[in-house]
Amino acid sequence: MSPIDSVHTLADLERWSYPGTALAVLGHPIQHSLSPAMHNAALAAMARDQGRFAAWRYFRFDVPPADLPAALDLFHRRGFYGLNLTVPHKVIAFDQVAAVDPPARPVGAVNTLLRLEHGWRGYNTDGHGLVQGLREGLGASLPNAHVILLGAGGAARAAAVECLQKHCASLWIANRTAARRDALLALLRPVAGGVPLHGFDPPSPPAGLPDGALVINATAAGLQPEDPLPLDLARLPRPAGVFDMIYNPPATPLLRQAARLGVPHANGLSMLVHQGARALEIWSGAPVPVAVMMSAAQAGLAASAYQATH
Ligand code: ATR
Repeated sequence: MSPIDSVHTLADLERWSYPGTALAVLGHPIQHSLSPAMHNAALAAMARDQGRFAAWRYFRFDVPPADLPAALDLFHRRGFYGLNLTVPHKVIAFDQVAAVDPPARPVGAVNTLLRLEHGWRGYNTDGHGLVQGLREGLGASLPNAHVILLGAGGAARAAAVECLQKHCASLWIANRTAARRDALLALLRPVAGGVPLHGFDPPSPPAGLPDGALVINATAAGLQPEDPLPLDLARLPRPAGVFDMIYNPPATPLLRQAARLGVPHANGLSMLVHQGARALEIWSGAPVPVAVMMSAAQAGLAASAYQATH
């Protein structure tokens, strides 16, 4: 394994010696992250045109959540230029950074950190990823769309804030656990502006649900083959499209139901790619080859499927 393919730990950071511009993703677990492959492929392509990127590299680090505050300091002292954060660090880091990009404030989570002189500036690029995923996968956009959002965790919160900031026509939140759904609705009310905001229980969709809504799955239901549908699409007015943030497996039970019903549908791979592309734009200040990142993500997924069956 070359060092950029390795899973590093904080112990490696103690004796870190990479002389170029270092970027990294921090997670727990992190082994299966597609981000190193996507970013290093993009950086190699960017370096062919612009020599200043020749020594940029993107590493992966397994960091347990309890170690994150100390880790953010250590990455800064070691001169890292940018970080991506994935589960479970996005929320923890929100309170640890020196500054937060204003649109990320209502999200309460950051997935991209840019080096400042005395700390980190936090951004959240998941909303941008969602917007681009909806556009590429469904030809859909959020302004004036009715949105039925499934889930009430961190991913749902980021999606809900993006829907409201983009002035969707209405936002309906369905979640298995009513208390979490209500807590999310309470957090969202101050940023809803004039957008009608509702909640419902997935087993009992209300009569007033709009025709032609965008259904967005931000739950984890579908990651495992035996998972139930997060919502039975047959019990809704016909949606305009169904977007599942899950990309592995590529076809969840929800997307398969959409296919059977003849409803346009897309998985979350292009969302993943575009949240990464926006992060690399923030760090590099340069145009980013999104198609290169997409090919690298697809190759990484194919390799992980191969490993899982061999
Ligand atoms: P994330 O940060 O990815 O959003 P999370 O905060 O753990 O992760 O939230 C997971 C979401 O998936 C929640 O909305 C959760 O529903 P509950 O609030 O009822 O737990 C939802 N979820 C997970 N497994 C599910 C399942 N099998 N069926 C329906 N919803 C599920």
